[in-house]
Amino acid sequence: METKSYSPGFEGVIAGESAISSIDLERNRLLIRGYDVVDLCEHCRFEEVAYLLIYDDLPTVSALFNFEKQIRHRRGLSDYVLELLHRAPARSHPMALLRTAVSALALEDANADDRSPEADRGRAIELLAKIPIIVVTGHRLASGVEPIAPKDEYSQAANLLYMLHGIEPGEQEIKAMDVSLILYAEHGFNASAFTARVVASSLSDFYASIVAAIASLAGPLHGGANEKAMEMLSQIGFADKAEQWVLDALAAKRKIMGFGHREYRTGDGRVPIMKAIGRNLAALLNNTKWIEIADVVEQTMDREKGIFPNVDFPCSYVYYMLGIPIQLYTPIFVSSRVTGWAAHIIEQFAHNRLIRPAHIYNGPSQRNFVPISDR
Ligand code: COA
Repeated sequence: METKSYSPGFEGVIAGESAISSIDLERNRLLIRGYDVVDLCEHCRFEEVAYLLIYDDLPTVSALFNFEKQIRHRRGLSDYVLELLHRAPARSHPMALLRTAVSALALEDANADDRSPEADRGRAIELLAKIPIIVVTGHRLASGVEPIAPKDEYSQAANLLYMLHGIEPGEQEIKAMDVSLILYAEHGFNASAFTARVVASSLSDFYASIVAAIASLAGPLHGGANEKAMEMLSQIGFADKAEQWVLDALAAKRKIMGFGHREYRTGDGRVPIMKAIGRNLAALLNNTKWIEIADVVEQTMDREKGIFPNVDFPCSYVYYMLGIPIQLYTPIFVSSRVTGWAAHIIEQFAHNRLIRPAHIYNGPSQRNFVPISDR
């Protein structure tokens, strides 16, 4: 029998082939379909990157125009989904509400049996358009305020900020949100993308794969880290308390959220982009408090553990400076990552083989059966 290798948490295990993204570990750079994410952040809007993920290549001017038109047309929620958001208990966890609402959208899929790539791309656009609306509408209803209708002329980033705050967002705020959405869009065989692929590999439907991926992203070791990182920064409260706070947490063997990464070992190339955005926002707001605390946390982690921040760390304080409630950070991550998941589901489906790994059994060896009356 062939020897099988085992690695806890699949560390270092090659679990499939993919043409969606790669990580250049020499330069700590993420490449999406071959494009350096640094270039994408500098030259593209999030919608172009979403198109790149869903349609395999960057759009032409007219393709982008049509793509954005489709997104705008699909932003409306049905009475059924709105009713669900209205009836949800006010203290529902936003990620639980989001995954429930996405599951409800599956019930409205008139062509559920059509698994052509075109049909799945249509579903991807549907979710790209509707997820941020669900997130913000759900939040406003839970806070007891009236939802705000989306504005047709707004991009995904601008509309999210507009619907949340009810005022026209500034250029710098829109750019900050847009860049975060690009950086969050895709990242290889991470836990949630792999979850989506596992579900798709049994030929289950597109929505089921996305719902499972949302559930996977929610955990604090994955997407939930951006909320935990901001909670930590708020708890620290002042830059001169940060070093001791980190030392105490490390002494108590607690993890510092927003730090460390399974793939990157010497730094996450997305971080400098987001840090620069954070610095611009702090200057705009004339408040460098969060940057100062974050810098001390970062320096202390580097000195004590040699562990670097991942993109969730600067995203956390950027979202805070954008006035976004902390419990919406991971749902906003979903608003972007849904495009990466869509690419993974479509790719998995095109070259499918059921994902079904083996395991090492470490339970008791064979036991004699004892009837219930004798136990
Ligand atoms: N804070 C403190 N120590 C950390 C750490 C962190 N954020 N991340 C890793 N470490 C330490 C571990 O305690 C471990 O130390 P040990 O060998 O002395 O036990 C070592 O670094 C290796 O960590 P491990 O958890 O085995 O690495 P991993 O590859 O399994 O984990 C993460 C990667 C992302 C799960 C991990 O770094 C983590 O939990 N980070 C915090 C959550 C987070 O930010 N998630 C978002 C990821 S994008």
